[in-house]
Amino acid sequence: KKNKKIIITIDGWSSCGKSTVAKELANALGYVYVDSGAMYRAITLYFLRNHIDWTHKKAVKEALENISLEFIYNPQSEKSEMYLNSENVEYVIRDLVIAEKVSEIAAIKEVREFAVAQQQKMGEKRGIVMDGRDIGTIVFPDAELKIFMTADNAVRVERRFQELYEKNPNITLEEVKNNLELRDYIDSNREISPLRKADNAIILDNTQLTPKEQFQKALKMAHEAIEHA
Ligand code: DC
Repeated sequence: KKNKKIIITIDGWSSCGKSTVAKELANALGYVYVDSGAMYRAITLYFLRNHIDWTHKKAVKEALENISLEFIYNPQSEKSEMYLNSENVEYVIRDLVIAEKVSEIAAIKEVREFAVAQQQKMGEKRGIVMDGRDIGTIVFPDAELKIFMTADNAVRVERRFQELYEKNPNITLEEVKNNLELRDYIDSNREISPLRKADNAIILDNTQLTPKEQFQKALKMAHEAIEHA
């Protein structure tokens, strides 16, 4: 029973540490970690680079036919990295330029259908930790463990600012704050699969937790869920 492979979903607001917990959990359990947001970011990168007019259904459909997404594990970073048409885009998709457009593109029906179908396929064998916005509600409604992560706004803005500032010292706290608030708004108010806590999700608020404490809490939840699966 201890070896039973389950599905763990981690949803929540932007920049509250979902990917850190998801990656650590997957490594501890020997599971696959999938960052679903990376897929929406890679699609956004493709749309921007190829000047796709995403307000037109036909243009979106045609563009999606030319997009191939793949996760390839990198032992150095200890995570699966995002490949767009065989190019490693793991780092470029973290730019603020992408963050500024991704919520708009992730709200498009065809884009979501494209991404969700691939995400569900990745979970067929279970033994997966996936983070995002609609993973516990839409992608894997039958997941054995659903975590909903939150943290105070100011804490999230500060964390994301530190992360982006290391790469680009010209960035301002104001820009980061505006982007986070706008994304949270669009992500939770869009028509198709908006961000919301699944009824049976457990809340993990990490405002007051150290990274270690947050991981220990999540790991305990995972062990209990595997035990009860
Ligand atoms: O997790 P992230 O910040 O990298 O996600 C980027 C954007 O992608 C986020 O603002 C909304 C969208 N997204 C989504 O709509 N559904 C998901 N499952 C994951 C991300």
